[in-house]
Order: sequence, then structure tokens, then C-alpha cells
Amino acid sequence: MTTLTPTVNPAPLPGGLPDPATLARLANEFFSTLPGSAGAPGVAAGSGAVGGVPSALPAAAPILASVSNPAPAGSPLAGPGGTGTGVPGFAPPQGKVPGANLAPSAPTHVFALGNRAPALAPHAAAANGLPDNAVSIAPALEPRVGGALLGVPQAYAAAEPAPAEANAGTNERSPFYFIESAGYGRQLEMKEIAVPDSGLAAPETFGLPGEDALRGLLALNRAEYGAHDGHARYFLEGRENAAPGVPGGDVPGAGVLRGAHPPFDVNAVRRDFPILQERVNGKQLVWFDNAATTHKPQAVIDRLAYFYAHENSNIHRAAHALAARATDAYEHARKTVQRFIGASSPEEIVFVRGTTEAINLIAKTWGVQNVGEGDEIIVSHLEHHANIVPWQQLAALKGAKLRVIPVDDSGQVLLDEYRKLLNDRTKIVSVTQVSNALGTVVPVREIVELAHRAGARALVDGAQSISHMRVDVQALDVDFFVFSGHKIYGPTGIGAVYGKREVLDAMPPWQGGGNMIQDVTFEKTVFQPAPARFEAGTGNIADAVGLGAALDYVSRIGIENIARYEHDLLAYATSVLAPVPGVRLVGTARDKASVLSFVLKGYTTEEVGQALSREGIAVRAGHHCAQPILRRFGLEATVRPSLAFYNTCAEVDALVSVVRGLAPRQ
Ligand code: ALA
Repeated sequence: MTTLTPTVNPAPLPGGLPDPATLARLANEFFSTLPGSAGAPGVAAGSGAVGGVPSALPAAAPILASVSNPAPAGSPLAGPGGTGTGVPGFAPPQGKVPGANLAPSAPTHVFALGNRAPALAPHAAAANGLPDNAVSIAPALEPRVGGALLGVPQAYAAAEPAPAEANAGTNERSPFYFIESAGYGRQLEMKEIAVPDSGLAAPETFGLPGEDALRGLLALNRAEYGAHDGHARYFLEGRENAAPGVPGGDVPGAGVLRGAHPPFDVNAVRRDFPILQERVNGKQLVWFDNAATTHKPQAVIDRLAYFYAHENSNIHRAAHALAARATDAYEHARKTVQRFIGASSPEEIVFVRGTTEAINLIAKTWGVQNVGEGDEIIVSHLEHHANIVPWQQLAALKGAKLRVIPVDDSGQVLLDEYRKLLNDRTKIVSVTQVSNALGTVVPVREIVELAHRAGARALVDGAQSISHMRVDVQALDVDFFVFSGHKIYGPTGIGAVYGKREVLDAMPPWQGGGNMIQDVTFEKTVFQPAPARFEAGTGNIADAVGLGAALDYVSRIGIENIARYEHDLLAYATSVLAPVPGVRLVGTARDKASVLSFVLKGYTTEEVGQALSREGIAVRAGHHCAQPILRRFGLEATVRPSLAFYNTCAEVDALVSVVRGLAPRQ
């Protein structure tokens, strides 16, 4: 066991700057020191809790404070004016005191240090409202410090057998290792990480102190912080802390919804999303535009930063260490997507820009190959333009016909009408799983089954479902499933096509270029098998890795838990918005997810959107790229709040109160 030496305040260099080697040593010592040891700093002092949250973190603050911005004013390492975040040229956010973020305000803040390893643990920190970038600054000063703090990939390397040992007894090698020592940067397989039943990887796996040790260090009352695993901190145990009248939490403005399951602690989730601290028009941001895009948890932000700081390279085609790291990170993300949607192999996952590109790829490859004159393509009336236009283009090109499943007045598809549309000319049925404009949850399982009975392929557009419900492509037996990363807390510009192996293998490539070929001569090109065949050129490597981190984050909280909370929140929102005079809800199907479209008598949707925006509340107002379904309801636009699992009942109340304030106008 290493004990921290008493050089917490190292002798500064002239100009007050501790040298990087000292910083590196101190940081490494700190993180390799088991908490509770005699030398561990600040174990006893100052951990008084206020309102269940400790007011200061004694252990971490001194060291981290010393690296906050050690560079003197004028140094190229200094932030503006010689004080700041410690990241060169990076000003502290307005209104935030430099260094104030260095004292974590909750125990989970310390656990979140483990989170600096790629998306290890949900973050749940910073009840002080400040981002905890104390650790993330370290790599900018001394990359080895950051790497050690992160626990990757150095910790992997230490825990890993040498490549020769690792492969002993098998001839299997990663196709992505180009150099003998490439194991240095290898990503662990899920099965190689010690994942307890909770689904949360143990910090020890990554060379970090375990939660037991950290709890000891902080002298925390276990009862105050719930059960033993990180997963549990998103659920309240035996705590009745709802605000009177509103299912709310212990943080003003938050909400906790209860049912037969442990109450989901939205406060903990919210602390993982730094942007939710943002103020708009002097008000705390309320983000109800989740159907357009979702915000990113710190785990995703950190994973992207880590990629660019330590792994960045082009992939698949170079004999150097960073190429191996980047390739492994990218392919690891592909496996994460595979697991998340229940595909049988990573080769069934093609990375694309998003859902729109995904559907275009399928229409322009599978579609061009398989749809001919007189053939029929079926979509539903609910579709986003991205699931209409590519099929229209294909139909025009081939002389095929686009047929549309109608919906009832609640916005649910009419299965009997669908049955009548199917015939032996039907080549593909392409439907959304959740309507982006109305929130209808479509019975895609039945739709896929009926399509198959008619001999057609089926595509499910998961852009609006992926973040709200469990998707299992094998259980759905769907031929194609597509989604966008940014709708599920991942980066923009990355998404995925799932295609059944035999379907992808039979499809011609779309774009031609590097990465998708096996051999090129001027006479002929031999293509790679899927998925590389469909990934021409340099893809969005970092954001694929970020998407993997987002899916890991969601998995740790549990998509079923998310679905349950969001379901209750949507029910609550519907119950308080519907009675407001002049409000007409658009989309009232029995099964809905996230979306609460409405119009307000006497107001344009823009007027309502602007009134909400003045109060810091973001909604989409317009046609939502789904004009046909709005016109089915006699409308050109709606106001569309769309909920995510970080939204609260109190936020819903704020929205309803603005709408109520506008009504009525004839
Ligand atoms: N498809 C996104 C939406 O519904 C952009 O807002």
C-alpha cells in the first residue's frame, strides 16, 4: 500500500509553478493510496453533510487544487489572466468561480473520478451546480497524469497478459492489431471487465479505489447514499422526499416518480448532464426538445475528450499504436451497439451519420437491387420525411409505388388497413417505432411479422424509440433497424444501420472509396464484406466511440427503468396539460413515448414556443419534418415538448404554467 508522502504542497518552481513530474507523482500517489490509510489526506476533517450531501470533499481538494491552474499569468499554459480552468485558452464559464469546482460536493463526485475512464460509471455529481473538471484538466498538463487517473489504457496494460500469453493456446488475434505491443491500447471486452449484477463495472478493474474504500475515506453514512453499487444511486431507498403537491425530489425543481419499483432519483441523473445547469434568459434551462436531440452526460463528453487526447488516429490501416487504439475503440463501440440492440454479430452493425443516412443507404443499395417496376413499398402515415423521401426517390427511379398505412384519430396505425395493403408486389415495409410528431408507439412486431408473411423485408426506424424502450432486433425479427446516436445521449453525426447478416451480405456497396475495398485494380475492385463494405472513407471515429459510451451509460441506469420513469412523467404531463383551456393535444394513442404535441387556440405554434423560450423552456414548434401526419390532423405545425429521463414533474409544471398564462385568446 502506498502512503501519500507529506509533500502535498510541493516546493514550487520559481514563479509558483509545481513541476509536472511532481504533479504526476502526487496524482498517482493519491490514486494509488488506499483510502483510510494513515497517510491519506483529510480523512477525518470536514465531511459534515448538509441536507444529506457532504459540504466538502477533504481528500481530493488539496491535490487537485494544486493542479487547477499552476501556470503563472502570461504562461502559455495559463488560462485568461493567469487564473481559470487550467486548460490553455479556456475561460471559466461565466459566473463560475475558478477553482470552485475543485471541491466535489457529493461523494459520487469522487466515484466520478473513475468515470474519467471511458464511461465507467454514471456520474451523478456536482450538486453545487458546477462542472467538476478538476480531473479532466490534468491530461492537458501532463498526459501521463491524466492517463493514470483515468485508469486507461495504462491500467489495462498492467492487468493484461503480454500479447503472446494472451493468445497462448489459440491462434486468434484481433484483426486490428498491427504491432506486437498493441495490447497496450486495447479496449477490454465487456466480459473481461468485472461487471457485478448491477451492471456497473468495478472501479478496481481500472486501477481505481473501489467504492467501499472511497466510502471509508469519506466516512459516509451508507444509509444516506443508498446501496452499494453505483447503479443504485439513481434509485432512492427508503427516502420520502417528494415536495408537497408535486412528485418532486430533495432538490427544488426536481421530481421523483414512484410506483411498485424503487423511486427513480432524477436528481442523480441530472447531475450527470452539465448542460442542464445552463441558464437561458436568466432562467434555468428546461430541455423539452429531446425528440430533436438529447443532451450528453459527462461520461460521453469525457470519453470524446479522452479519445482525442489519447487514441486519435485513422483506423484499420496503419501499423502504429494509436491506429490500434483508435481501431479498437471504434470496433468496441460497434460491439456495444450490437449488444444494446440485441444483434447477433457486430458485423451486422454499420456506422452511418444518422437515421437519415441509414435509410438512404438501404434505399440506394438494397432498394435499387430489389425493387423493380410495379413493385410496392409500404410506409405509415406517421413517418418522418427521412422515411418517406428516400422511398419516393426509389419509387420514381424504378417505377414502383409508395403505399401508406393510415392512422386512426388517436394517431395509431390501422393494422387491418395495413393487412389490405400487403400483397406479393410488396418488397419492403418501412415504419417508425415511435412517431416523432405524435409520440405514438407503433406495433412494429406485428407489422414486421405481417410483412414477412407477405414475403417482404421490414425496416424499423428507431430514431425516436431507441432512448425510450428496450429494442431487441432479433426478437423483432426485423431485417433492418436504424437509429441516430444523438437521440440517445450520444454525439451528433453518428448512427447505425442494423441489417441481418444474410441481407447485408447480399447488398451491393453504396459509396466507393477507401476502407470498403479488399483489392483495387483499374479493371476491377473486390469489396470488403459487411460492415466495412458500407463504410467508405474515414468515418466518424470519435463519435462512434462516444455513442458506445452513451449506450453504456444508458445500460448502467437501465433502459427499463428509464422507460418506466418516462412513462409516468408523460402520463403526469398529459394529465396537467390536457385540461388547460384552449389546448388541443395532437396524438392521443394509448401507447405513447416522450412526445406531447399540442396546439393552443388563438396562438401560432411559434408564439407558444417563444413564450416558453422566454422562460428558458425549449420545445420544438413547427412541422417536425413530418408534414403528412400533421396534415392528417388538419395542421401545419404543433408545439412539441418531448421528454427524457432527466426531465422532472416540476419542469412540466413550469411549462404548463406558461401555457396557462397564455390562454385563452380567440
Ligand atoms: N427528427 C428530429 C425531430 O423530430 C429532428 O425533431
